Amino acid sequence: MKRLPIGILGSGKGSNCRAILERIRSGDLAAETRLVVSDVLDAPILNTAREFGVTNAYLPPGRFRTRLEPAIEEQLVKMLRDAGVELVVLAGFMRVLHEPTLKAFPRRIINIHPSLLPKFPGLESWKQALVVGETVTGCTVHYVDERIDHGQILAQKEVRILPNDTAESLHARIQVLEHELYPAVIAEFCKRYNEASGQGAGWSNKSVV
Ligand code: GRF
Repeated sequence: MKRLPIGILGSGKGSNCRAILERIRSGDLAAETRLVVSDVLDAPILNTAREFGVTNAYLPPGRFRTRLEPAIEEQLVKMLRDAGVELVVLAGFMRVLHEPTLKAFPRRIINIHPSLLPKFPGLESWKQALVVGETVTGCTVHYVDERIDHGQILAQKEVRILPNDTAESLHARIQVLEHELYPAVIAEFCKRYNEASGQGAGWSNKSVV
């Protein structure tokens, strides 16, 4: 099986990145992580990459808070392309991507979000679910577009909200499911990538839903 070259972008803890790297290491996931990039110098996700011997880079984001400066986003695209990345995996990346990246990787950028989108996009969505008294929430993997936590949904997993749940306990249970869901969706991309290879087909246009 040909390994799907992926690049992972993240700003924080990197538990999803770890789950993906573990699945690759154990031979369960036919992907190859070419690069881990963070916009935060001391983000634990960079240490995780180092621990697994994966090439990693800090990308200084520039002067904006929620996006990369355009020239820097171009630089990100170049880094991903130079590394031969075929699927861009956002794992807690706290900046909105814009045209340079979206155009360079059409239907090849995915994100994981801790709610059942389209409900509760944005920050701390497990808290949003608790505040309005939902009984079920979960996590979603979706294609990335120019809007926050928006784009075609690829897969979801539900989590029941328990009467005594705190924000922390609920978030922890969602994350356990994220660590199953994200590698499972990436495995689907790996399958399509392999099916398409040799046929000259645009593998990313094949639906993974
Ligand atoms: C996850 O909860 C993910 O859904 C959201 O950001 C968080 C990243 O967590 N987009 P981690 O850095 O993978 O632990």
